[in-house]
Amino acid sequence: MDNKFYVTTPIYYVNDKPHIGHAYTTVLADVLARYNRALGKDTFFLTGTDEHGQKVQNAAEKHGIPPQQHCDETVLRFQELWQRLGITCDRFIRTTQAEHKRVVAEVLQDLYDRGEIYKADYTGWYCVGDERFFTEKDLVDGKCPECGRDVTAITESNYFFRMSKYQDWLIDHIKTHPEFILPAFRANETLGFLKKPLADLCISRPKSRLSWGIELPFDKDYVTYVWFDALLNYVSGVGYRTDDGKFNRWWPASCELIGKDILTTHTVYWPTMLKAIGLPLPKTIFAHGWWLTGNQKMSKSLGNVVNPMDMVDKAGVDAFRYFLMAEMSLGNDANFTEETFINRYNSDLANDLGNLLSRVVKLTIRATGGTIPAIGALNDDDKELFAAVDTAVATMSSSLESYKLDQGIASVLNAVRAGNRYLEKCAPWTLAKNGETERLHTVLASAATAIFKVAVLLAPVMPEKMGELITALGGNASALPVITELAGHPGISGWQMSDVPPLFPRIVEEKAEEAPAAKENKKSAKAEKKTAPAPQAEIPGVITIDDFKRTELRTAKVLKAEKVEGADKLLKLEIEVGSETRQIVSGIAPWYAPADLVGKNIVIVANLQKAKIRGIESCGMLLAAKCGDTLALVMPDKDIPSGTLVG
Ligand code: ME8
Ligand code: MG
Repeated sequence: MDNKFYVTTPIYYVNDKPHIGHAYTTVLADVLARYNRALGKDTFFLTGTDEHGQKVQNAAEKHGIPPQQHCDETVLRFQELWQRLGITCDRFIRTTQAEHKRVVAEVLQDLYDRGEIYKADYTGWYCVGDERFFTEKDLVDGKCPECGRDVTAITESNYFFRMSKYQDWLIDHIKTHPEFILPAFRANETLGFLKKPLADLCISRPKSRLSWGIELPFDKDYVTYVWFDALLNYVSGVGYRTDDGKFNRWWPASCELIGKDILTTHTVYWPTMLKAIGLPLPKTIFAHGWWLTGNQKMSKSLGNVVNPMDMVDKAGVDAFRYFLMAEMSLGNDANFTEETFINRYNSDLANDLGNLLSRVVKLTIRATGGTIPAIGALNDDDKELFAAVDTAVATMSSSLESYKLDQGIASVLNAVRAGNRYLEKCAPWTLAKNGETERLHTVLASAATAIFKVAVLLAPVMPEKMGELITALGGNASALPVITELAGHPGISGWQMSDVPPLFPRIVEEKAEEAPAAKENKKSAKAEKKTAPAPQAEIPGVITIDDFKRTELRTAKVLKAEKVEGADKLLKLEIEVGSETRQIVSGIAPWYAPADLVGKNIVIVANLQKAKIRGIESCGMLLAAKCGDTLALVMPDKDIPSGTLVG
């Protein structure tokens, strides 16, 4: 096993304050770093800020202050947020630091001396927003292919890095190193990009146009292209050309996390730069998806940016970290709305985990004064509980290797639910009443052991809360067992529990747009809930309202319908869901002719994972009832706008 782990995040532009996307990548890196430390690996975690270039210069101009001052002020917002979010980076690098600038200049000089960089005239199309030049054929409808904004034609003399000569080598490296770009479909995306001839990379900007950058050591009329400068942070941040011992210890990186928006710079520019410099490539570049709100990219211009601080204020740092990690299936896009956040918080943390802990603590204090009793002979119920915990341990370990953290977390939550079912089934309150002390002790100690293992598994995601939980069980939160040893852990009999206030108090939201009458009802419902006894009985097969709410049902209008060639049963529907158009593939052809469906209102599961049916993408599922040979679509009985929530 590789006994070191070096993880990086992109370095973020300081043109504006941090947002949830920045928070996500950084929390993800932190969770991976914490897990790897917990596995006993030597770990280094690098993050920081990208402080040069047009965007930052423009932002500084807008504020009427010198760029360095702008950077010094904005960087604090990132550093404060990381502190608040419990980020344990080993280094926070800023590209305006002298040491980094020296490394960039040295690399440039070396490449220039070896003929890897040359000067030439260049005409290109420039996108200010993305700080990138594009060739004519890169443009999409005359606009920037990355962001769709206007581009400007520019002809000037510039310096170029001979990137093109590494094209075949790069293709070969990607093909022979399946772990280099993950998920695999992103490797295919890069290989697709590399089907066209690769151009050389313009790595300079004339000072007449942009002055805020690292001066080229061989021509003082130019500064370095911001990406060439920024990418080098991954090596300068661990001592390249300044501390050989440190550098050799950490480089190559184990995992460079990026968002899918910066795939090309990281999987084409960066590896070819490293090749020219003569350095090995990172083991893995992992590109995660985007956080969306209401299925649109979160962006300032759309005005739908969720402020991470608001969520932290509402539910606490650990709940925020938990949501980010549990909700996004690594590699895909995910939706962030306050509603999904609160639903998941209430169901996973307040209900499932919070209830399990408070029940076991209360029952144990009543039974033994808090000392966790010994575990006697195990029956099938106990074994089933431990099997669920062992599965969680195994799944979490493997999901770390395969970057499927959400699956690891889901499996831990399954163990938590198994814990609640176990209590319902074994009914320790009845055992206590009947004086079946030995069995009572086994049940309480088994449940406590399960909770302990769950807490160890979730500690990298929720360090503070899981620390509190382990302390409440009577353990030492700063000396946790190694995750891989959890399966054979002897349990926690003998520990002294203490009562704790709820770790995750339930969040009760009142919606502003609700009619006063509905509000009244909700208030009285809330009042009832408060007086109800805390542990709610769980009846098998019965779900809570929060469980139901995780399924997003919406009305939709059929815009187009057609048969899928070669599949008798399938129809391909184009549907309108509010402002969005989607495609759904459904097996309803035997019952509905395409023409009969157009214009109809139907109901769909809107938050279903995308699927490919016969190679055709299907984004959602329509609701229908089938009885014998009859199939009936569920349709709203009044005309109602598409996209309306059903529930
Ligand atoms: O690109 N969802 O910096 P940047 C998920 N300085 N992640 C998101 C996101 C979203 N909606 N929006 C941003 C830069 N991110 C360069 C990087 S690296 C040598 C230089 C995350 O401030 C995601 O990780 O635009 C993305 O790659 C990064 O923020 C971009 O941050
Ligand atoms: Mg960006």
